[in-house]
Amino acid sequence: MSASLGLITAARDEFLTAGFGPCTASLIEGSSSEWTSGLPVLRGTRVTLREIRNSDASSLFRLLGDEQVVRFLARPPNTERGFERFIAWTHQQRASGRFLCFAVVPDGESSAVGVFQIWRLGHTFETAEMGFAVGAPFWGTGLFMESARAFLNFAFDTLNVHRLEGRAAALNGRGNGALRKLGAVPEFVLRKCFECGGRHHDHIMWSIHDEDWHEATAAAGTRNQAVRR
Ligand SMILES: CC(C)(COP(=O)(O)OP(=O)(O)OC[C@H]1O[C@@H](n2cnc3c(N)ncnc32)[C@H](O)[C@@H]1OP(=O)(O)O)[C@@H](O)C(=O)NCCC(=O)NCCS
Repeated sequence: MSASLGLITAARDEFLTAGFGPCTASLIEGSSSEWTSGLPVLRGTRVTLREIRNSDASSLFRLLGDEQVVRFLARPPNTERGFERFIAWTHQQRASGRFLCFAVVPDGESSAVGVFQIWRLGHTFETAEMGFAVGAPFWGTGLFMESARAFLNFAFDTLNVHRLEGRAAALNGRGNGALRKLGAVPEFVLRKCFECGGRHHDHIMWSIHDEDWHEATAAAGTRNQAVRR
């Protein structure tokens, strides 16, 4: 499963080609499955992460379809209707316990300006992969880090992730810079693993472990972000 528009790559490839095989929440061991019937609302300092909705299709199409955003990512759906289908697909995946997609909604906005996604790499979320993207007008504003803290607290505390992987094209300065800021550790290079824009790119594999996240957030006093349904 590929990462990058980590978000839409993994999601969309499966979305377009796989169909929705049976996979029930009972396969999720060691984690709450309450979220399979609807994602909780996560609060950051100036941002809310909530389940992606059909009404987000327009803003996501506009913001995530931007060349700057998708430069190192798999192509997202190329129509608003395509985003609507993608959103419906994420709901099915969440219900089956495999894949979750949070919309990033800054305070003062009503629609998504980005997404954080996570999918399990085995039968549980013990090892999982994430992908994220936000619209270019929000880059460098702190929105990413505020969203990421809430998202990662949920991943480690509720999904009981032990090892969280993230991948970014080696040339993707912001993507790799963002992963580094989260405390992720670069592990190795996947050579020429990802075709984008007519050429094959190297990807850097990063990981965050639960102990590291818990230590870092305890030290920074950023645990216990408000979580409500
Ligand atoms: C990845 C993304 C969500 C990060 O959000 P953001 O607001 O740009 O992130 P931030 O500005 O908080 O952090 C990026 C860091 O990378 C650094 N950076 C930017 N360009 C860089 C480069 N060429 N080399 C190294 N670091 C770079 C920035 O300086 C910043 O670090 P700083 O805050 O210490 O200065 C956003 O850039 C995005 O959506 N990109 C397109 C999608 C994508 O690439 N997703 C990741 C794929 S896994």
